[in-house]
Amino acid sequence: MSHDFPPGSVWLVGAGPGDPDLLTRKAERLLAAADIVFYDALVGAGVLALIPAATDLVSVGKRSGRHSKDQGSINALLATAALSGKRVVRLKGGDPSIFGRSTEEIDCLSAKGVAVRICPGITAASAAAASGGASLTLRGLARKLTFVTAHARAGEALDLDWTALAAPDATLAVYMGRAAAAEVARNLIAVGRAPDTPVMVAVNVSLPTERILRGRLSALAFLVETISDDDPSLLLIGEAIAAPILHGRSANADIPICDVHSTGRP
Ligand SMILES: C[S@@+](CC[C@H](N)C(=O)[O-])C[C@H]1O[C@@H](n2cnc3c(N)ncnc32)[C@H](O)[C@@H]1O
Repeated sequence: MSHDFPPGSVWLVGAGPGDPDLLTRKAERLLAAADIVFYDALVGAGVLALIPAATDLVSVGKRSGRHSKDQGSINALLATAALSGKRVVRLKGGDPSIFGRSTEEIDCLSAKGVAVRICPGITAASAAAASGGASLTLRGLARKLTFVTAHARAGEALDLDWTALAAPDATLAVYMGRAAAAEVARNLIAVGRAPDTPVMVAVNVSLPTERILRGRLSALAFLVETISDDDPSLLLIGEAIAAPILHGRSANADIPICDVHSTGRP
């Protein structure tokens, strides 16, 4: 039995972007030792398939605009399971510390005296860059990397520091950005980001349905048009994205205004 997973404790575990091969060995060990696993909608089916059949599996699947359980209910479920003496895994897509609402869960569990620890996972931005054969940073050209969410409360405009985000030496990784893609592009261009800045939209990264769409910032709204609400997608914006590091392609290879294709992953 795992020395670091006593009964009555909770691990927040990063499941990575979906492909079970992108799960850490530690995450796999904790999943094997858990009595009960509470998982999000974005956790890949291949990851769930690694969990022993005897383990209780509970979906607390939250998808944008369709929260099947509110955060308070999830906190209460975790606490109740731990306080009944179970080894609890809270399995979250990507990395639990990136737009994963980990703090609410940790605060609630800690307040009830439950020991909670975090196992990191591969975040969608890292997996997207890898699938697109690009780097998130680029010596001399992209010195900053900003993770930002473009998810706004219903009916509210995005409240972001567009001037800071438009810095020409920054790569932006925009989570939950599909619906707001047009607004993101419009605001960045309005404060000076070049309309021909390269963008990559990564859909269902690391899954068999993965698609990588490339284009320019001015065409971002068109790029996302074919993406459904159900498909998680990440926007990457910046010069580094235009410099594929694989297949011997040269830096700043020709990027079309808008290029939509499937990566044809197995
Ligand atoms: C609530 S956030 C959680 C992010 C997660 N904690 C992470 O580190 O990747 C959900 C957003 O992450 C991005 N995302 C997660 N998995 C993805 C995937 N497989 N492909 C593309 N984007 C993904 C999408 O922008 C999605 O709307």
